[in-house]
Amino acid sequence: MGLVTTTEMFKKAYNGGYAIGAFNVNNMEIVQGITEACAEENAPVILQVSKGARAYANPVYLKKLVEAAVECYPQLPIALHLDHGPDFETCKSCIDGGFTSVMIDASSKPFEENIAITRQVVEYAHAHGVVVEAELGTLAGIEDDVKVSAEDSSYTHPEEVEEFVKRTGCDSLAIAIGTSHGAYKFKPGTKPQLRFDVLHECEKRIPGFPIVLHGSSSVPQEYVQMVNTYGGAMPDAIGVPEDQLREAARSAVCKINIDSDLRLAMTGTIRKFFAEHPDKFDPREYLKPARANIKELVRHKLVDVLGCAGKA
Ligand code: G3H
Ligand code: 13P
Ligand code: ZN
Repeated sequence: MGLVTTTEMFKKAYNGGYAIGAFNVNNMEIVQGITEACAEENAPVILQVSKGARAYANPVYLKKLVEAAVECYPQLPIALHLDHGPDFETCKSCIDGGFTSVMIDASSKPFEENIAITRQVVEYAHAHGVVVEAELGTLAGIEDDVKVSAEDSSYTHPEEVEEFVKRTGCDSLAIAIGTSHGAYKFKPGTKPQLRFDVLHECEKRIPGFPIVLHGSSSVPQEYVQMVNTYGGAMPDAIGVPEDQLREAARSAVCKINIDSDLRLAMTGTIRKFFAEHPDKFDPREYLKPARANIKELVRHKLVDVLGCAGKA
C-alpha cells in the first residue's frame, strides 16, 4: 500500500482503545527487527527518524531502508515520521523528501511562539498531504543535543490544549505526563507513576483528538542486567511500567514512542555475544541475535503493551 499517513491509523486506534507503536530507526537491522515483528503480528507501525538519525545514517539511506520495508510488507500500513523536528527547515526537508508525518517540537518555546512555528509547519505539511504532530509541555531527558533536567521539565497545562490545537491545526499532540527520554526516567526508590489526571483532563478538552506519548520505554530489566553483566554500567536504569502504558493506550493516546528499549536490547545482546565469543569478528554474527531480540521485544510491545497486534 506504500507509505501512509497516520490519519487512518489514529482514527482506528482511538476508537479501538489501542495505540500505534512509534519506533526510532537508525540502521538496517533496527528497521528489519521492527517490521518483521509487525508483519508477523499484523500490526500497523510508525517508523520514526530523529535529526540525529538523519545525521548518522544520511537521510537518503534511512528513506531507502524504510522503502525496502514497505516493499517487503506491502500489506502493512507503515508511516514514515520525523521525530522531534527542531525547526521549519528540517520539517520541510522531510516533507519534500517523502515523509508522511512530521513532528515540530517547539515545546521549549513560549506558548505563542510554539503556536506560530507549529502553524507554519502545518500549512506547508497539509499543502503536501503530510500530517503534523506538535508538543505542549516539556519532558525531561535527552533529545538529540537538547538536554532537559527534571527540574526544568513541566507537565502539559490542560487548559492550553484546546486553544493550541485549534490555532495550530496540528493533527496530533504530544503531552507531558511524567514520561521522559532515555533510560533513567525515575529515581531509584520512588514509585514510577504517570499523571493520568493530566492525561484525562487533556482528552476531555479535545475529544476525539489523538494524543502522543514520548519517552515511553519501559527499560526492561532483563536487558539492563544483560548490559551490566557483560561489562556495561547502567545502574538505576528505570522505565515506565508497562501496565501504565497499556492503560494509556486504552485512552486517547494513539501513538507511543519507544527508542531506548530497542537500544538496550541491541547493546545488551551484542555485549553478551562478544563476552561469550571473544574470537568472533563478523558483524553479521553479532547483529543477527541483536536484530532477533529487537524483533521479539517489538512483538511483546505490540501484543502486550500497545494492543495493536492484528489491527493492520
Ligand atoms: O527522543 C529522542 C529519540 O530517542 C531519538 O534519539 O536523538 O538520539 O536519535 P536521538
Ligand atoms: P524513550 O527514550 O523512552 O525510548 O523515548 C523515545 C522517544 O520519545 C522518541 O521521540
Ligand atoms: Zn521523544
